[in-house]
Order: sequence, then C-alpha cells, then structure tokens
Amino acid sequence: MKKILIKNGYVIDPKTGKDGHKDILISDGKIEKISESIDADACRKEVKGKNNLRVVDAEGLLVAPGLVDVHVHFRDPGFTEKEDIYTGAKAAAKGGFTSVVMMANTKPAIDSVDTLEYVLNKGKETAINVYACGNVTMGLKGEELTDMDALAQAGAVGFTDDGIPLVKEDIVKKAMEKCAQLDMPISFHEEDPSVIENNGINRGKASEFFGIGGSPRQAEINMIARDIKLAEGLGTSIDIQHISTKEGVQLVREAKASGMSIHAEATPHHFSLTEEAAIEHGTLAKMNPPLREEADRRAIIAGLVDETIDMIATDHAPHTAEEKARELTKAPSGIIGLETALPLGITNLVDAGYMTINKLIKLMSTNPAAVYHLDAGYIAEGGPADIILIDTRVSEIYEKENIASKACNTPFIGCELKGKVMMTICRGEVAYEA
Ligand code: DOR
Repeated sequence: MKKILIKNGYVIDPKTGKDGHKDILISDGKIEKISESIDADACRKEVKGKNNLRVVDAEGLLVAPGLVDVHVHFRDPGFTEKEDIYTGAKAAAKGGFTSVVMMANTKPAIDSVDTLEYVLNKGKETAINVYACGNVTMGLKGEELTDMDALAQAGAVGFTDDGIPLVKEDIVKKAMEKCAQLDMPISFHEEDPSVIENNGINRGKASEFFGIGGSPRQAEINMIARDIKLAEGLGTSIDIQHISTKEGVQLVREAKASGMSIHAEATPHHFSLTEEAAIEHGTLAKMNPPLREEADRRAIIAGLVDETIDMIATDHAPHTAEEKARELTKAPSGIIGLETALPLGITNLVDAGYMTINKLIKLMSTNPAAVYHLDAGYIAEGGPADIILIDTRVSEIYEKENIASKACNTPFIGCELKGKVMMTICRGEVAYEA
C-alpha cells in the first residue's frame, strides 16, 4: 500500500483540538505521523522509491476528519433501481463521507443476520466504511422484535425501523431495554401516523397550497414526547432522527438537560429549506418528516449551535425519476443528500455566521462517530486514515450531470453552493478525488 503525505494543509480536528498548519503522513490505513513539517524526500528514502509515496499538496485546503453519516438509504437489497451499495458509497465518498450507516428499510429488511451480512460484505467491497443498523421489528411491521442480540453480534451498529414510525409503546420500551443492555443506540422516526393525512408535506401553507391534508407538526411532537417518557430511567442512548419542529428541538433540549442520553439528527434540508421549497419543487421537496416553517428551520439551527441536535445526518433517500414524476400524494418521500451536505453546511451554517467550520465538522463527523461507537471522526497518530481535503473558497453550481448517486431527486440542482471536497481518503487510500 502506497504511503500518502499530505503537505501544507490546515488541519482541523474538533476531537483533539488540532487547528493549524500541519503535515500528515499516512501508511497502512493509519495516520503514521502528524507534525509541523514532514520532509517528503526523507519519506521517499524511507519507503524506498518514489512510486511508493504520493505527496498531496493541500496548500489553501482544510484537512478534516472524514465525514460520518449515520442515516443513509442505499436501497440494497431490493430497490437497486434507486441506488445500490456501490453507487451509494461513491456518492458518499464524493461528498466527503468516509463512514456511513445504512438504514434497514431494504427488501428484505435488515431483520436477519443473513441480510445484514449481505449488506456489510458488499459494503466492504467499496472504498468507504459501510455500516448498518438492524431493524427493531421483523419486516418493519412494528409487531415483533428482531433477534437484536444476533444482529449486534453480526455487526449492526444500532437499531431502527426508520421510514416507518414505531406505533406500539410496549415494543418501543422492550427495544429500548435491549439496546441499553447491548450499549447500542436506537434511532426513531418520529411521526404519529394517526394524525397525518398525507405524509411529506407540512400541514399549513404548503398543504393548503396543494389542497391536501398534509402532515401536522403535532405528529412529530407526540412521538418525541412519548419516546422521551418511555426512555426515562432506562439509560438507553436514543437518537431522534431528522428533527423538523421547534417544539421537537425544545423537547430534546429539556430531556438532555435532565441528564438523559438523548441525541438528535438534523438533515441539511431541514436546516436549509422551508415548506416554500415544497411549494416550488413539489415531489422533489417531499420528504418525511416534511419541510416546515422558517421558525422551525431557525430552531433547528439554534439546536445545532447549542448541540441539542448533536449530529447532521443526510437521510440520503434516493428514488427514481419515474417515481418522483408521480402526482404529489402518490410520489415517495425523500431526497438524496450525500453530495450536497457539506456545501449546504458551509453555505447555510458557516458562511451564514451561525458556526465555525470546526463546529460543522464536529456535527458531521466527531459527534456521530461517538454516538454510534465508530472509530472515526478524529485525526490522530495511530488513528484511522479517514481524512478529507476541503476547499472552502470555491463556489459551484450543483449540476445533475455531476451527481455520483444513481438518483437525482433533489431540489438543490442549479443552486450555487460554497465549499468543495477535493479529496477523500479512507483507510489510507484515495476514495475520491475531484
Ligand atoms: O423522506 C423519507 N424517505 N424519510 C424517511 O424517513 C425514509 C426515506 C426513504 O426511505 O425514502
């Protein structure tokens, strides 16, 4: 394996506090050395030959830990016309992600060791780290718990029925107890189906515009409040996925203040857009939970700033053009997000003045790695060589032709976004290069 020497870059690492010019030498998938200056010639001599060392000039670039996305839908097995593990991993690498956690709403669902092994083995053939959650219930039906011990043993990193809210309280409680025992996170799609008329579109301005019932904010509030109550005293690490309402953010804030092990994810679309985007883009901005109001978007940003919401996760949800061409209430919910997540963060959080780039990296790498117990999200000697090079000065129009994902269901095509991933290194090898 070739060694890589990254020279002249500006290294930021929220975990170890690195923040300055440093060179980094990578070998055998690990970071061998970090220092003010590492001499390329000396390294060449040591590796015996020019060809065994690649020197990357990172002058003017930020060098950060590879991003970690704990919420992606790679649709494999079962829906590979939308995405597969190979194309999903390519999109991830292009977006600067070196570790991703697949959701379990595949077909078959990841409710058995066989399916989990299929996913993890295929993931190993890609250039990044592909992890997966196991299902909470068999077939995502919400009725019968999976063999969570076996799934944990086989390598699941968490549990979720994301895509389908878990309605039955006794099932949720049992699953929480099991996850506490296993010391694994359980993540929740918080939408109470009993109050939703049409999912994916906010009840309010957007639903009125389309003349449909839509999905009220109360759907999310009910379920977050319920799950906080159910988790009380259990010590389970719970993860509230794709939070969309200001009330939801406040519930998580209060639960966190009470000492509960509660985490939350915000998607780039929920901190960037409101229901106006649904009115403008229709099915391309239809997702569960829906885009809501400006006050919600601002509350989500405030939640990210004070780390009530400790993770940015994309909910990368590819669908085919044919599916998204259906009428609004019949089209599936979800948008792709891996290739726009970092630029949206730089544009709408960092450049907009809400946070530093270091904080953005913390939310997109260090924190999610910690919640899911992944050896990732930091830059240190002896640690994994999962590193990205970012040019924060470049602005680019996001174009359909350049998308690495199989799908292009996103309202961001044509938008000018700031920040570009120039190189993604994972396990010491170049996984993507601009
Ligand atoms: O919009 C969504 N799409 N939200 C989810 O939680 C699931 C996802 C999907 O699987 O398409």
